[in-house]
Amino acid sequence: MGNYLELILDKLDKKSPSHCAKLRQNLSYLGEDHSALANGFLARYENYLFKQKLNLDFGIDCYLRMIGDMGQERISFAREGRYSSSSFSEVEKRVYCRPEVMTYHMHGLVLAQFLWFEQYERLDFFLHHLKQSAGKLGSYLEIGGGHGLYVYEAMKLCPEIRQFDLIDISKCSLKLSRGIVDSRKIHFHLMNIFDFTEEHTYSFVTMGEVLEHVEDPLALLKKIGCLIGKDGISFVSAPINAPMIDHIYLFNNEQEIRELISQAGLTILDERKVASERVSDKLADKFKVPVMYAAIVKLKDNNNG
Ligand SMILES: C[S@@+](CC[C@H](N)C(=O)[O-])C[C@H]1O[C@@H](n2cnc3c(N)ncnc32)[C@H](O)[C@@H]1O
Repeated sequence: MGNYLELILDKLDKKSPSHCAKLRQNLSYLGEDHSALANGFLARYENYLFKQKLNLDFGIDCYLRMIGDMGQERISFAREGRYSSSSFSEVEKRVYCRPEVMTYHMHGLVLAQFLWFEQYERLDFFLHHLKQSAGKLGSYLEIGGGHGLYVYEAMKLCPEIRQFDLIDISKCSLKLSRGIVDSRKIHFHLMNIFDFTEEHTYSFVTMGEVLEHVEDPLALLKKIGCLIGKDGISFVSAPINAPMIDHIYLFNNEQEIRELISQAGLTILDERKVASERVSDKLADKFKVPVMYAAIVKLKDNNNG
């Protein structure tokens, strides 16, 4: 298999040398699992680009546009102490209803999954828990599947599952995930998760980086409780102090996420928190460095009926 990660870093080096140097330094502690997962998914991504008559340079330019947006959002966040959008309708107008913006943003996120160590740590945490349940799962639902990386890995780990459901509110996201993952086992649903009426419960529900996209994350966590029922578990992740063009709900620290999880009637089985810069927790908190928080949750026992 080709070394797509290295190829992308080499190309990035030409377009943005200082950013690339930082990425290389940040990624240097990650081992072969990281390269193998990255190259497996990025090979599929390149194949998808090729079918669209595009190439990796397109993906890299999208990634750099996303980084540019992030820089602006961070300046505004430092000044205002809040995300630049606070309602779903604002983000709908600004991002979801603008295919060009949503497209470069989502392509940028594909590369970020492997170029940002905290994103890889999130995937690693997900895989660690999915491996523990693999072979025993009957059904899988993914909310806000985005680029399709998580459902792709879930399909590889859980061949026993006959159907994977993936819901996303954005046509651009569904086009991308369908194009990269390309499997008949996945049923793609274009809808807002709040409009999804479950016909049954799911043994595993994945919801990576969606909580911060909604106005009422408590309602979304309650929805997860209904979707997993008493026997299922869910992987949930959300960033803290992480301004982006499509983020609405600001989590100031992980305790706020834990409290919402508990208020929704869920309990945390395990969690992982990784700051996006190599700084202590204290400094990350003081300087509002974006932090990745992920948890495996289930319904609290007293909610079990
Ligand atoms: C940041 S991406 C996350 C991608 C992927 N799940 C991950 O963990 O990296 C957020 C995705 O959630 C989708 N999304 C946002 N709000 C949603 C909602 N209310 N219902 C369904 N999908 C939603 C967006 O369209 C986007 O594809």
